[in-house]
Amino acid sequence: MPDNPLDVFVSGANFAASKRFSRGKMNQRRVLLAVTGGIAAYKAPELVRALTRAGCVVRCAMTPAAHEFVTPLVLQTLSGESVVTELFDLTQESEIGHIALADWAELLIVAPATANTIAKLAHGLADDPVSTLALATRAPILLAPAMNVNMWRHAATQQNLEVLRARGVRCIGPDSGELACGWDGEGRMSDPVAIADAAALALGSEGLAGEVVLVTAGGTREALDAVRYLGNRSSGKMGFAIAREAARRGAEVILVAGPSAVETPSGVRRVDVESASEMRDAVFSELDRATIVVKAAAVADFRPAEASPRKIKKEDLPAGRGVTLELVQNADILAEVCRAKGDRIVVGFAAESHDLVEAARRKLARKGCDLMVANDITRQGAGFDADDNVVVFVWPAGEIEELPPMSKSDVAAQLLDRMEKLRAGKG
Ligand SMILES: Cc1cc2nc3c(=O)[nH]c(=O)nc-3n(C[C@H](O)[C@H](O)[C@H](O)COP(=O)(O)O)c2cc1C
Repeated sequence: MPDNPLDVFVSGANFAASKRFSRGKMNQRRVLLAVTGGIAAYKAPELVRALTRAGCVVRCAMTPAAHEFVTPLVLQTLSGESVVTELFDLTQESEIGHIALADWAELLIVAPATANTIAKLAHGLADDPVSTLALATRAPILLAPAMNVNMWRHAATQQNLEVLRARGVRCIGPDSGELACGWDGEGRMSDPVAIADAAALALGSEGLAGEVVLVTAGGTREALDAVRYLGNRSSGKMGFAIAREAARRGAEVILVAGPSAVETPSGVRRVDVESASEMRDAVFSELDRATIVVKAAAVADFRPAEASPRKIKKEDLPAGRGVTLELVQNADILAEVCRAKGDRIVVGFAAESHDLVEAARRKLARKGCDLMVANDITRQGAGFDADDNVVVFVWPAGEIEELPPMSKSDVAAQLLDRMEKLRAGKG
């Protein structure tokens, strides 16, 4: 049996898909996504995108019931691969072949996984494309259950899951919340990005296994009085993307985050802080174990010399008078971390509005880190709060690498590729 029995079927459409999406850590990993007939099937296309964005080659299979909720055409268009919809279809069987497809997969994800399909898998039934593939494959299986809360809590479903878990099947979710059926409770399918993260763990992309990666993200808030603060426009998206990618690569990840609306990636320990001084304390209390430190947070350089414990009120000031703020400097966390560097790798970020590379070179020399990631905050569609970024890697010996515009997830993947090489002594 060849390693990849379906190589022969890798079509032009797949090549187009691989060009369209950039490569993450799951580069070319072969994922079979099985979609079953739950309402959450409408999120399956999003999951295909999350997986292809992370670099996977995705093929989809569906139960007949899944057709009621999502069309094969959507899955085919997004994956760039034909979709298995029938067990007894001459064309599909001759093109793909269910056993060849089961052998091809490095991971089978069932998302959403209905109560019915979970029951079939637990009992070894094989009467539709999904249950047959699940029985035939030797790949690990990841289930993302989604159903009404009472179906989820039913002893039959729970016992079926116990049987499957005992066989090594992994499960992500379900999450709690408002359900499509009108009930509130457990039963919502996990977010597609969280499922993609779980897929990376299941696939064992372990380039950073054994590393402890400490990431800082977001902006800080420097209190002015009981209700006001000085802040900045950092959203935390860049640092969170790095934390997610590091966890996907098998690292233990500690994310020290200023206030941010971004969801905590799976497998990441998040420590919430507000001010620069809280961030400094959190970083130093975690630093000992860290082998890689990435300081992507936008830490305030200054804070008000005094913060009033009460709200400053207009009525307390002479009529028409404003308030003059005295600002004092905050600790330079990056420089302090570099002074305590030892043999860990330290990466800094430099958000600049002009003289990008020169400013980053000066900052790198001043602080003494191993890499400075410079980004031009004046570039349209990049920088603060954007989903994309345009960065230049500035190295201590003076070399620079200018990356084309790309998503923050892709910047994270590029950065961690460099970290893997440095840790392996190949940098
Ligand atoms: C509107 C609607 C929504 C449904 N949503 C779910 C669901 O979220 N989870 C589930 O387990 N079953 C759900 N069902 C029931 C399944 O569709 C049904 O059990 C079906 O046999 C599942 O088949 P499959 O597991 O082969 O895909 C739903 C049914 C309907 C009519």
